[in-house]
Parts: sequence; C-alpha cells; structure tokens
Amino acid sequence: SSTVAYRASVLHFTGDPSATQQSHEYYEDGVLLVGADGKVKAAGPAATILANNPYVPVVDLRGRLIVPGFIDSHVHYPQTEMIGSFGEQLLEWLNTYTFPTESQFGNKTYALGVAKVFVNELVKNGTTTALVMATVHPESVDALFEEAAKRNMRIIAGKVMMDRNAPDNLLDTPATSYADSKTLINRWHKRGRALYAVTPRFAPTSTPEQLTMAGKLLQEYPDVYMHTHMSENKSEIAWVQELFPASNGYLDVYNSFGLSRKRSVYAHGVHLREDELASLAHTGSAIAFCPTSNLFLGSGLFDLQAAERHGVKVGMGTDVGAGTSFSALRTMGEAYKVIQLHKAFADDPSTKKPLTALKSFYLSTLGAARALDLDDKIGSFKVGNEADFVVLNPNATELLKFRSARATTLEEKLFVLQTLGDDRTVERTYIMGKRQ
Ligand code: GUN
Ligand code: FE
Repeated sequence: SSTVAYRASVLHFTGDPSATQQSHEYYEDGVLLVGADGKVKAAGPAATILANNPYVPVVDLRGRLIVPGFIDSHVHYPQTEMIGSFGEQLLEWLNTYTFPTESQFGNKTYALGVAKVFVNELVKNGTTTALVMATVHPESVDALFEEAAKRNMRIIAGKVMMDRNAPDNLLDTPATSYADSKTLINRWHKRGRALYAVTPRFAPTSTPEQLTMAGKLLQEYPDVYMHTHMSENKSEIAWVQELFPASNGYLDVYNSFGLSRKRSVYAHGVHLREDELASLAHTGSAIAFCPTSNLFLGSGLFDLQAAERHGVKVGMGTDVGAGTSFSALRTMGEAYKVIQLHKAFADDPSTKKPLTALKSFYLSTLGAARALDLDDKIGSFKVGNEADFVVLNPNATELLKFRSARATTLEEKLFVLQTLGDDRTVERTYIMGKRQ
C-alpha cells in the first residue's frame, strides 16, 4: 500500500462550534490524504493537494461527504440482542431484560458471536471507536477485544464490576472484581489500539468495598478509563441516596471513592444539579449524552446547555440496548428532538437554543474524542491522526436525494443527513486507512 488521496467534500472539526467561530474546516471539493501507515497526511482543497502529490492514486468519491469516523461514548455490546425491549423504565428494565441477557456471556463462544455482530454494526454505521461495557464475565471482555482487533479498531472496554443487587450468577466480589480487572488491564490495555476501562456498572450494584477497589485500580493504573452510569432516572437517584445515606448526592458517591478524574466517563447525567456539573468540570470528567436511550426508557431530557455552561466535556453515545440505534446519524437526529423538548419544558424557554447540526457532528467526532482524552489520535483530520473516517452519501435514498438537493448551506446539508440518515447513508467506513 501507499499514500492515497480520497476526493470528496471533506469536513472535520478543530474546535467546539458553541465556543468558537472557527470550529471546523470544510472543503467542498476536498481531499483527505492518507499515508501508507494509516495516518492522516493532509486534509484540504483538492486542487492544492492533488497538485502537490501528482503521483498519488486518487479515489474519486465526489458527491459524497468525508467526516471522521463516529465515536460512540457509551454502549453495551451484550445488549445488541435486546434492543427494543418493551414497556419498562430503567430499574425494571434491568431486572426484566438486561440481567437475563447478560447472564449468557460467561460462555466465550456465545460472547464471540455477539461481539462479531456488534462490531459489524459499528462499522456499518460508520462508528470507528466506542467506549463499551461488557458484562461481569472476563470472557466477555476478551471476546470483544479479540473481535475489534481483527479490524484494528480503537475500542475502550472493561469488565462490569457488580457485587450486589443483581442475580447471583451475575455477581463478582470486591476481591475477584479487582483481580479480574487487573488481569484484563495487563492483557489488553494499549495492546494494539485497545484501551481498558475500569467499569463499576453504577452505584446501586456495587458495595462501598467494591467502589474502593475500583478507586485502587485507578490509582495503580492512572491512564486507564473509568466508565459508569450516573443520574439517569429519578427512582435510581432516590435508591442511591438510600444505599449511600451519608452522601451528598449521586456524584458525591463516586467522588468519595476517587472515581472522578480525566478519562472518567459518566453515562447520562440527565438529572444533575448545578454543583454536580461544576464538580465534573473541575475533575475533568465527561458525560456521555445518550438521547435515544433517554427517550426510550423515559429517563428525562439532558440539559446540554447547562453542561456547556459549566465546561463539562460531553460526547454522544448510543447506549444500545436501551438506546434504539447504532447509528450516530439517528442519535444526532434524536438529540435535536431532546433539546427541542427540553426547551418546551424549561422555566424560561427563551434562554434555550436549538442544537445545531454542526454541534451534533462535533459531539459525535472531536467532542467525543476530547471526552475520551483521545483527541491527539482520533476525532479529526489533524495531520498525524489515525485515519478513521467515513464516506457519507447524501443521495443514499430517494428521499435523502430529493431533500438534499434543496439544502444549500453546510449546516442545512448536515441537518438533512442527521434527520433522514441511517446506516444506508454510510457508504464506506475506513479504519486506519483500511476500507472495511
Ligand atoms: N444503569 C445501570 N446499568 C445500566 C444499563 O445497562 N443501561 C442503562 N441505560 N443504564 C444502566
Ligand atoms: Fe448504559
């Protein structure tokens, strides 16, 4: 292989659209130049790059849009088989559907089968990196990392730590969760593109002794991730207060065990207080905003503007299988609706702004990379970054084509893609410059 020029419209972000005017680079007739090492050599106008690289083979994708591979900041691979389970909100949904499903993943062969389907779905939807919860079984983590390694995919994942309030066959102990996590960190963290996340499921399913062990792991391995759920559902929040009566709210439970720092990612954060948002910003922790899940489980409406006001890092997540789609485009489309509803229910709707398409594409690429502390490697076409990218076709369906033809500005084109797009819109997915 050698350097290759991909010619199409090219878009990527250099900053947060809500924080700066100069948030992105867009080349209507552009080229993404990818080296033989699978890294970005340049992104810019086709005329300039092709003139400077006359002997480089060109892949002509004109009429399409190239963007960085999407990043899913929170997803459960074992829940692939239970998307769309009817009728319950969080706590009942866990007991009725999730725990029985996850109990199958002690079987490595079974786990490998689901991991394969999961990784294929990511690729089909243009998602090239994900922060993934496995199950309590160490085998489930091996299965996912093995499948991801076949595609050289940058995956962050970890074994769920869970020692109470779940069926017996899904429980570990403080000691085994510590030992098993440690073994998995040594086996997988930084092996190829794999990264490890210490993963207490959420406060209700861990004893204080287990959360202490999670904190100990983070002390011993400062560059691994911490991945959990927080403040998703009102009954969940009340339960946490009962289980940890001395705590000053949900985040304080995690803070008191030393779990909040850079590379700590909290899924949801739908019902956080102002002081909790300030604390997250202060510790450098991030929130995964999971709109399809929050709507599906009836959890609530995330306040993106409040998180922004406090300077909390936010990435977009699907949260499959409470989330209803693997598609980053579908997730952006639903995020827009969540923010619309949030405005409808706000004390003073006039202070609330709609979510722009530029912002949601940012949250699914560079914003998520920043939330995951990976923006020096992925999330944009900065020179030297790993060339994970997708080719979107705005004419993929009859309706998209009809509607796209009437979209003139970049913002309009992106908004149409996120409103009508899905896996059919993702024409190609490349990982480290290799077509999948
Ligand atoms: N909180 C604890 N576990 C889960 C889970 O599997 N999915 C969601 N959405 N929330 C959780
Ligand atoms: Fe989740």
